[in-house]
This record gives sequence, C-alpha cells and structure tokens, in this order.
Amino acid sequence: MQIPQILSLADLQVDRNFAVIRCGEQLFGLEEGALSAELYAQWVGSSQSFEARGLKGIETVLHQAERFLLPLDQSKGLDALEHVRLTAAKLFKHAVARKSPDLSFAFSSLSIEQLGALLDGLFYAQYRFDLYKSKKESPVLPEIFVYLPQELLAEAKTLVDEKLILAQSTAQIRDFVNTPGGDLVPSDYAERIAELFASDPQVQVEILDEVQLEAQGYMGLITVGRGSQNPPRMVSISYNAQLNDGEHLGFVGKGMTFDAGGISIKPATGMWEMRMDMAGSAAVVGAMLAISRLKLPVRVSAVVVLAENRPGENACLPGDIFKAKNGKTVMVDNTDAEGRLVLSDGLFKVGEMGATTLVDLATLTGAIIRAIGTSIAGLFSNDRSLECELLEAGKLHGEKMWPMPLDLEYRDSLDDKVADMKNIGGDAGAVTAALFLQEFIPENAKWAHLDIAGTAFCTKDWKYYGAGGTGWGVRTLVQWAKNKSGGLK
Ligand code: BES
Ligand code: ZN
Ligand code: ZN
Repeated sequence: MQIPQILSLADLQVDRNFAVIRCGEQLFGLEEGALSAELYAQWVGSSQSFEARGLKGIETVLHQAERFLLPLDQSKGLDALEHVRLTAAKLFKHAVARKSPDLSFAFSSLSIEQLGALLDGLFYAQYRFDLYKSKKESPVLPEIFVYLPQELLAEAKTLVDEKLILAQSTAQIRDFVNTPGGDLVPSDYAERIAELFASDPQVQVEILDEVQLEAQGYMGLITVGRGSQNPPRMVSISYNAQLNDGEHLGFVGKGMTFDAGGISIKPATGMWEMRMDMAGSAAVVGAMLAISRLKLPVRVSAVVVLAENRPGENACLPGDIFKAKNGKTVMVDNTDAEGRLVLSDGLFKVGEMGATTLVDLATLTGAIIRAIGTSIAGLFSNDRSLECELLEAGKLHGEKMWPMPLDLEYRDSLDDKVADMKNIGGDAGAVTAALFLQEFIPENAKWAHLDIAGTAFCTKDWKYYGAGGTGWGVRTLVQWAKNKSGGLK
C-alpha cells in the first residue's frame, strides 16, 4: 500500500472553487482559464493541452472533476461517498494501465468524509491476490498526491494513517478468504491469527484445540469437525482486557475453512466457492487487527470458530444428537446447516468472556442471497438501537445492510420430536438460522447477527473489489467500535 502524500494548496492563490485530477500527462476537470497562471504552470506545464485523451471507461466520470464528488446516477443505488470510492478506484486502475508515474488530486474544498472515501477507493483498488500465479505481474504503481486546503491538513494526515491501517488489515484478511481450503485448515488458520497479534501487549490470544474443546463441552465445533482429519479450533482474542468500565463489545465469526456440506453434501457446481465460508471469522480478525492498531479506547473480545465440514468416515450423521453449550440437545437434521452449530459455541464463549453487546458475522445461509441478493447483508438484532448503530456505521463505508425479522412465530419450526431442537426450520431459512443463534445469546445481552453469505465474496469484480473475498464487515465493525469508544470521527 502506498501512502498518499498530502500537500497544501494554501500557498497557491486560488480564487475559485475547483477540483483537478491529474494522471501523468492527462488532466481532468479543467476549463481553459480556470486556473491562475501560476497554478496552471505547476499542474500542466507549458506544453500540455487541456484535452483529455484516452479516457475510455471513465470519460463520463471525469468530464468535469467536480462531478467526482457527486453521484452521477443515483438510480444505481450508490450514495455520494460510494461514488467517490468507485471513481477513485477506477482512476487508480486507469493510472496503472497507463503506467502513469503519478496520480494527483487537488480540491479547493472537500469534506473529511469525501477524503476518506477517496483514500478508500485508492487503497482498495490496490489489492491483488496473486500468491498462486506462477507469473506475477508487478505493475508500476503511480505516486499519489492529494492537495487540500490548509485547514484540512492536520485532520487529513490522521485520516490517512487510519485509512491505511483499515486497508492493510482488510487486505490481510482478504488473503485468508482467498486462500484455498486445503491450504488453510483450522490449525494453520488459528496459528496465523495468533501471529498477527503476537507483538501487541494489549491483545491476548487463546487457541483451544480439539481435545480442549471436547473437554470443555464445545460440542457444536466437535460435531461439525468430526468428518475431517483437520480438527476444529476456537480462537479467542481479547483486546484492552484491563478496561473494566464501559461497554464490553463481543465479536463472533464463522470460520468454516471449507464447507462441503458434510454427509448432506453440496452439489459439485460452484462448491469451490465454499473456501470463503470463513469470511465472517476473517472480518472479525481484520476488525480486531484494525481496532488494536488504532488503539481504540474500548474493550473488545472476539471469538472465531474454525472447522472443516466434510463427509468423512467419522462424520456427523443426519439425525445425530449432541448437547449444545446452552444445555439443550440438538438434532442435526442437515449437516450442511453447520454454521449455526459452531457459532453456538462462539456466542456462548464470548458471553463467558464478559461481552455484553454481541455482533456475529457469518456466511450463514443461501436463503439470505435469495431474499436480498449479493450486495446487501442481512441484519438481525434483538435491540433496535444496536441495529441503528450498525446501519449508521455501515452507511459511512458503503457496506449495506437490511434489517430482517427475528420473528418468534417461526421459532417452533426448530422444535424436534426427540431432541430439544433441530438445526433447520421451515421456510425463511435465514430467519430460522438467526432464531437458532438467538438461543445462545446470554440473558440481557444485546446482539446482532449479520448474514454475509452474499456480500463476503464475489465471483466477478464488484464495485472497487476485485473478484474474490471482499473483506466485507471490517469497516462496519471498526467504525461501530470507534463510535462506541467516544465517537472519534
Ligand atoms: N455456507 C453455507 C451458506 C452459504 C451459501 C454461504 C452460499 C455462501 C454462499 C451454509 O453453511 C449452508 O450450507 N447453508 C445451507 C442451509 C440449509 C442446509 C438449511 C443453505 O443455505 O443452503
Ligand atoms: Zn453448510
Ligand atoms: Zn457454511
């Protein structure tokens, strides 16, 4: 990741509002006579014409650089900040394609949120995953300059540091999501998570292996992991454990390093995508990384539940019954509904760690995709204010969520004739999955569940994300934690 160099505009005599974007020798958003001779000379040089050339693909966006800050077409459902991210990402890719030595932005006025979105777009466009390509491309990356009004500079510098931390933390966990299941089994994944936090004295990491898990009764993980030679792990991450007053936030993430469905095996087509079934855990790890690197003054505990769901010799059979952490017996009706089983252990554990406001992220159901597609995450919560806080945090970062019902009318579809509960209900699969999770929430705890099955991974480029893991949720969680820690902006 590069660090944009932020320079001041203040010493240049600018007598009108303007926005300029320069990509090597290309200049966007200028009209003849719009700039003073001095600024013109600095930005354009004497021989350069104003004509913008070779703008294929981005011409509409760059016709007038002021438009950079505004959504061109709100009917596309992107708000102004998302438009800035998208345009910045397109510009970055354009500059790389042209092998431009620099990409510069100058704004005579800009809000801090707009600057944040600009940085997001630039940083997110830089992410690539080429670990498995034998021939690696090493494109020439442009140097980035952002010229801003003097009064914004101090805040802008802090923002650049913060956005970099966010982007780097997200890039690290997108690598996890993009790594094939066979190369990131639960034990390796757990070790790699621990390594990420090893040098931070404010963070403690605990890994429970399969023997400890069984001894402590985490039978959701044990039951799901039984079909695999690669046993499950539970990783607990505790940040700022010494903070005893204030809210104690808890994150939980589903970490199925591969979900073949178990004995209720999935169809072959597209099954490879289930390497991403650990994206909830990855987002939680990314958020913890960013929160700890930003040193947010808030207490956060996180639990990620890691397992591999395979049809193996010893795999859990449909109809098997185990005793879950809430004391209830659960009949496994469909072994492919495994996420809720491992999350039951994670939710219980984070409650035991003392967290009182819980958020879990999970690629939990195909049903959420059928309900609201792949651009929006399903948000289920037992607390309206928590729901609003998350929606607001997500909105600032272009991470869309939609409130879904946790309606108890569907709860009895989870009743079983032999056991206390079963793991699948009737219709409304995303709702019954959430109702299953609700059984494991500590009394009086606030809780929200984000079903990110649609948003966590894209098979082709989407917005400013390349195909693959999107890192969806890191920014929402970090923003939410930041708002909780006293509203740093
Ligand atoms: N990991 C899947 C859900 C999923 C589907 C994630 C598509 C990402 C994209 C989950 O474990 C699963 O298999 N759910 C089943 C539940 C069903 C058996 C009740 C599903 O949604 O089909
Ligand atoms: Zn499954
Ligand atoms: Zn799954």
